[in-house]
Amino acid sequence: MADMTTGWYGNGSGNTGVSYTVDGVMFAALADNIGAVFNVPKGTLLEKATIELVVNVSSDFKASGGNLQPVAQVLNTGEAEWGCWAPNSTLGDASDTTITCKISEAGKLNQIVNDTKVGVQVKPGANPLVGTVTIKSVKIILAPPSSSSSSFSYSSYDASVASLKDLKAPEDLEVFPIGVAVGNTDSPSTNILTNTQEQALVEKHFSQMTAGNIMKMNYLHPRNDTHTLADYDFTNADEFVDYAKTKGISIHAHTMFWHSDYQVPDFMKNWTGTSAEFLTTVDEHVTTLVNHFAVSGNVKSWDVVNEALTDDTPSDYRKSPFYIASGNSPEFIERAFKAARAANADVELYYNDYSTENNGAKTDMLITMIDDLQAKNTPITGIGFQMHLYLDYPSIANIKAAMQKVVDRNLKVKITELDVSINNPFSNGWSVSTATPYDGLAQKKRYCEIVEAYKATVPEELRGGITVWGTTDASTWLNSFYQSQGLTDGEVVSWPLLFTPQYGDKPALRGFADALSGNACTNL
Ligand code: XIL
Repeated sequence: MADMTTGWYGNGSGNTGVSYTVDGVMFAALADNIGAVFNVPKGTLLEKATIELVVNVSSDFKASGGNLQPVAQVLNTGEAEWGCWAPNSTLGDASDTTITCKISEAGKLNQIVNDTKVGVQVKPGANPLVGTVTIKSVKIILAPPSSSSSSFSYSSYDASVASLKDLKAPEDLEVFPIGVAVGNTDSPSTNILTNTQEQALVEKHFSQMTAGNIMKMNYLHPRNDTHTLADYDFTNADEFVDYAKTKGISIHAHTMFWHSDYQVPDFMKNWTGTSAEFLTTVDEHVTTLVNHFAVSGNVKSWDVVNEALTDDTPSDYRKSPFYIASGNSPEFIERAFKAARAANADVELYYNDYSTENNGAKTDMLITMIDDLQAKNTPITGIGFQMHLYLDYPSIANIKAAMQKVVDRNLKVKITELDVSINNPFSNGWSVSTATPYDGLAQKKRYCEIVEAYKATVPEELRGGITVWGTTDASTWLNSFYQSQGLTDGEVVSWPLLFTPQYGDKPALRGFADALSGNACTNL
């Protein structure tokens, strides 16, 4: 329902504006094409929408033979719906009339670039126009999404976000880091050191970077032959960190321990020594990494341990190479945190995992682990919630409840790898093969609600920040991940990030910004 007390204005040449009465919005029917309208913001998909207006014309207007025409016209371009019409014979004489207008013009009213004005104008009948028109109410019923809607193309969409990282609500004392995962070794086409579009986007919107890969263990510590720095390779990671430093961008370092096979060094995968020797190697690994990256000064935090818990119900410690080499025990976790803190008193130390945000069995295990670590005086700063999410899963209530449990333990909460896939292969298969603007707006709302949930649950002093896992939809890790899991139907499409492959804004960016600014979350 439109607000009938504000936002209206006179339309058509010679109009004398509008007045707000107890009945609604009134205007004088002075000449052909004069009317009253209000703006519907860009992003509202009016194609096939139904606009229901309740109007009341004065007796002299009725007697003049005057007609009404509902208006839906795009600002700037002038494109419009002209098919709706309420002839004089259908209008009451100083009594209410309901006019229903279905927008049938194709390809014009789904505006993501300009606002659209909606209202009513007068058209003369047999006699010159006189009298007044009062619009009592306007209801816009949007059409459900249709698979035949225009394809997902936001190359010209402007989210009007000057800089995501600079947005803050008035109550924020300090802005938490807004980060992005990028790389200098993953793909030549998205190399942050050479791709100027990637650079421009990162520098404009983000205050923190995470390396998608190059700071994982196998790249940094591939050998364990000499127990000296000769076993390490920091070249690529250093270039990555240095680039950020020159731009005033901090680093969330990822990650000292992760079981994923492709980046576990062979010497850890096939540990041949004792568990005591392994834990000494844990100390060495952690100490060397923390010390090395302390030098640059912009490494603010580390994911010390990544994904050490299983997805089972109930969840348990993952039987990773590190768990096994620790003597079938999670002791490497405690050791790693303690070694990191001993090496550096200031750097923030996170435990990072996925599916912990849905407040289920894995969240329970996370809390069990935290309580155990805290009982052993383990210096853990916070919990990273990866948050590889979907439009439809998990619920905001569960996200809040899971984060609250961490807040209750006085730990920081950091969203470390946010993306919001439009397709959910676990619940809807590949039902969306062409994402419509409608999907883009649903994603905008979802991003907003996630960021809003974070702000609502995590008090300022415990906010570790929010990082999105990639720049554009072209560089998402999800499509190849889905393929590797056998989840693909051949058309692997997730569209999970804030920018288009052409480096244009998506509505999702606006949604993120709305939550940061304290605006309402809408799919308009
Ligand atoms: C992903 C990278 O983005 C991909 O390039 C790589 O092939 C696999 O790993 N959880 C994590 C990240 O903690 O390290 C993963 O990154 C995504 C899931």
